Amino acid sequence: MEDDVEKTLPIYAHRDEIVRLTKEHQVVVVVGETGSGKTTVVPRFLLEEYFFSRRGSIVVTEPRRIAAVSVATYVAEQLGCELGGLVGYRIRHENRTDVDATKIAYMTEGVILRELLKDPLLRRYDVLILDEVHERNLFQDLLMALVKKLLPKRPDLTVVIMSATINEEKFAKYFDAPVVHVKGRTFPVEIEYVPGGEDDHVAAAVDAVKSALPRTPGDVLVFMPDYASIRDAMERLQNETCGVDILPLYGNQSPEEQMAVFARTNRSVILSTNVAETSVTLDGVTCVIDTGLIKEMRFFPKTSTSSLKVVDHSKAGCNQRAGRAGRTAPGLCIRLYSERGFERRRDFTQPEILRSNLDSAFLQLRAMGFTERQIRELDFMDCPNGALWANAKETLTLLGALDSNGDITEEGTTMAEIPLPPVVSKMVLSAQRYKCVKPVVTVAASFSTRPIFLRPMGQEEEADTAHGVFRNSDSDFLTLRNAVERWRAAADRKNFAERHFLHQVALEEIEKAEQQIMAILKDCGIECASYDGDSESIKKAVTCGLIANLLTNAGEHGDGRTYKKQRCDGIFIFPGSVVFEKNPPPKFIVASEIVETNRTYARQVQIVPARWLEEIFGLETHKHRKPTKKRFRRDHQHHNGRGNRRGRHC
Ligand code: CDP
Ligand code: MG
Repeated sequence: MEDDVEKTLPIYAHRDEIVRLTKEHQVVVVVGETGSGKTTVVPRFLLEEYFFSRRGSIVVTEPRRIAAVSVATYVAEQLGCELGGLVGYRIRHENRTDVDATKIAYMTEGVILRELLKDPLLRRYDVLILDEVHERNLFQDLLMALVKKLLPKRPDLTVVIMSATINEEKFAKYFDAPVVHVKGRTFPVEIEYVPGGEDDHVAAAVDAVKSALPRTPGDVLVFMPDYASIRDAMERLQNETCGVDILPLYGNQSPEEQMAVFARTNRSVILSTNVAETSVTLDGVTCVIDTGLIKEMRFFPKTSTSSLKVVDHSKAGCNQRAGRAGRTAPGLCIRLYSERGFERRRDFTQPEILRSNLDSAFLQLRAMGFTERQIRELDFMDCPNGALWANAKETLTLLGALDSNGDITEEGTTMAEIPLPPVVSKMVLSAQRYKCVKPVVTVAASFSTRPIFLRPMGQEEEADTAHGVFRNSDSDFLTLRNAVERWRAAADRKNFAERHFLHQVALEEIEKAEQQIMAILKDCGIECASYDGDSESIKKAVTCGLIANLLTNAGEHGDGRTYKKQRCDGIFIFPGSVVFEKNPPPKFIVASEIVETNRTYARQVQIVPARWLEEIFGLETHKHRKPTKKRFRRDHQHHNGRGNRRGRHC
């Protein structure tokens, strides 16, 4: 049962206010600092209040799986009940709730979006709490627009929007809702500007750590843009900080790896990406060092490419980071940029919906019965550019999810039901046709997990040699599959992974994801008998999924090594690919993604023989008849069975 320490959480002072407002308004916004008790306590307030008066249940959405699982576990413990009983969670491929017993269910946003497909009015729930909405990820913006549309149809539904203290006016205005301000236990934080980090942020951060440790009593939290910077800084800090632990914290870690940070006992320097900004509580930090940088993904609809770049973080984000230093005592924040540089930054981070690939979103909405026009007219908090929707439509048409009239096909309906990105579900559905579901599921699983091939600094050549045994010179996907299979068959898997420079945890994640995908396919009634298929079938199925990223060698127009596709040229094969050194370079390739870093790279590549394009897609590949997109699309649609107009209605 709950203890007294818990009752000191700032949220308790607002219990009556929150409960009263949920009775007076359909939507209520609750803002407060991380750790004030929003996520773990607000659902309990509402449960206590509504348990006897309603039969339904409370759902709380979280952006990350780890948050949904760990918070549900914590709350179940606090209430003295078993996880999966009164309190449970649902994340992609995993359901620890009980239809009758569960009253508080923590879920990732993707899960509830999928539920909207089956139950457009969310009749099963009485209270919907959208948590961590300051993040403004794509799913949250979609959910908010759908919930806003749903409110008049479900006057009995109570919605609570919870956020860190960022941009609360925008949420209040959007939902026309009152705001509850939870006052956190915050202490003043002194800000120091130490410009110089602009040139080499890792060196600047390392120097700042060394100078900060004697000046601050507690732990030091360093905000880095990405894992590469964290690893670099860790190496440089080794042997420089006597008696202080150096701990990494980033989104891709397994729960066990992240536990090291939460369970720390020694004085520590924590090197973290943005995950420590608002989503996790780190008590005991008295100094924050902020590089002011964040890694941002941006999708360009015109060329259908992405960029993953380190950019300046927003003012609101930097201030939030500084606040992490004043949780337990007055703190210090060292900013590795100038005050003028700070003033020049944008106020808020741009919402993901304005810079994302909208394939999945478009398909989901079409499967829910929205017409294209209704989608474009949805009342989003920030409306995506029409080019993003147009790109999504084009890709989904190439994948055969939409027909030439823009209507959802039977295959598209199935793709919407499978909780995987459309290109991945297309791959798996094609594998069924080519009778190679099992190996393609391994490839599909790798799309949602970390890279398995390790190349530690200073051991690159050794690692490349070790990876050589898995090599399939035509396909990075078959190479990956070979590695997974060899590891799976090894008597001592851990040892095998170590010897071959493979990421043991990532491989375990792939195995788990494979099982989950298999279970989903079974649920969707998709035949997945244990066909292994030959390598040609596997490659064909992969090609079907990646057809929107079909690249043609630019020939003498490039330097013989560059590739192009519709509206985009100057694409290089990523040097880590098995196809990179192929001589002569293949004419056609497909890639999992095309990403701009310092150059535009096709990542994870596979060679496509010209005859397959004719065979699978009816594409003409002769020199004198270049494949035009129009003809391509027409033929492809034909292949995918045009004319099915089955859709669902909301
Ligand atoms: O959502 P918000 O950031 O406002 O706070 P919360 O996640 O509800 O956490 C409130 C408090 O519960 C934290 O300060 C932690 O002390 C505790 N907590 C915990 O110990 N373990 C968790 N998994 C979650 C919360
Ligand atoms: Mg929270």
